[in-house]
Amino acid sequence: MTATKGLEGIVATTSSISSIVDGVLTYRGINIDDLAENASFEEAAYLLWYGKLPTQSELDGLVKQLGEYAPVPAQVIEQIKLYPKDTNSMAALRSAVSALALYDAEAQDMSPEANLRKAIKLQAQLPTIIAAFSRIRKGQEPVAPKAGVSVAYNFLYMLTGQEPDQVAVKALDQALVLHADHELNASTFAARVTVATLSDIYSGVTSAIGALKGPLHGGANEAVMVMLEEIGSSAKVESVINEKLANKEKIMGFGHRVYKNGDPRAKHLQKMSRELGKLTGNMELYEMSVKIEEMVTGQKGLKPNVDFYSASVYTTLGIERDLFTPIFAISRLSGWTAHILEQYENNRLIRPRAEYTGPVNQKVTPIAERK
Ligand code: ACO
Repeated sequence: MTATKGLEGIVATTSSISSIVDGVLTYRGINIDDLAENASFEEAAYLLWYGKLPTQSELDGLVKQLGEYAPVPAQVIEQIKLYPKDTNSMAALRSAVSALALYDAEAQDMSPEANLRKAIKLQAQLPTIIAAFSRIRKGQEPVAPKAGVSVAYNFLYMLTGQEPDQVAVKALDQALVLHADHELNASTFAARVTVATLSDIYSGVTSAIGALKGPLHGGANEAVMVMLEEIGSSAKVESVINEKLANKEKIMGFGHRVYKNGDPRAKHLQKMSRELGKLTGNMELYEMSVKIEEMVTGQKGLKPNVDFYSASVYTTLGIERDLFTPIFAISRLSGWTAHILEQYENNRLIRPRAEYTGPVNQKVTPIAERK
């Protein structure tokens, strides 16, 4: 048995949800470029769950359902109030989602109807949890979600308690479409492994949140912003990036396991970053990002991934840095749950093997003789 490090190139399942072929990403066969320009996040989520784009009445039905499910149980909000004020935002999300299961009467109901309902419920409740966490740690009361509005609108509204700007809603909505699914990425694989034991959907999503948290995956968008803040200004890009490259440090937001010629989602986020910069009259973050891209692509041949321009986009929208990865989770929840439902439909336990590299033919040494 020979191991493939990082399972690179291993085809671990069949799936009809999203595909990456020759650098082109599709959800259910529709190019991500088309979806980013022409579909809302709710339409994309419906597509992932049901395998087709919704009609107007189906879309209205989903938006209504999301509105009904958006309030989270009071006990979960009370628990969030008990978290230490400096709790990591993804750790808070992971804990709160796990807690949601305790108050859902159908948490252990494995029927397909209940599982789909729980997917929609989680989609509605994640933004409420993240916004409540953000406010509670600042000593503010959570803002109750609105009914009949988009996920993007509701999230921005619940963060501030103010009606969000339409440009901001549109930008966040497009970012959510772009992050919604991505074939067998690490967090989706984690979710599928968990539910393939026939564990419940909350366990699958909790595993996925844990996997997304790491800086080699979803945590990279926050790490990009840490780097931009460390650099501070366009004038310093050259020296800081040269030093990082000389020290063989990884530049966050660059490179990808699957895309070697560029991530098709990055160009949409770059455009958004430029447009938001122009609108707000502050192009500094965008200009720094472009300079970094020129250097990293020029010197290492590495292209920006989905996380790179997300950092300047979310910052320009006024969102706190440590909420970037939780926002990724809001979007990817639609993909995780679509994959979980697909796994249940045609399940087999996921249990690979390991190539053993430890010692052989050892004996139990009596404890008094051990060193
Ligand atoms: N900066 C500098 N060098 C890099 C980077 C980077 N961002 N990414 C890859 N490399 C280099 C590696 O050092 C390695 O060089 P070597 O062969 O000289 O040792 C080579 O490119 C291959 O890199 P691996 O890490 O082996 O590639 P892998 O496919 O395992 O990793 C990954 C892909 C994790 C995304 C990697 O490119 C990385 O760490 N990027 C930075 C973190 C990041 O942006 N993650 C988000 C990915 S997108 C997402 O999950 C949403």
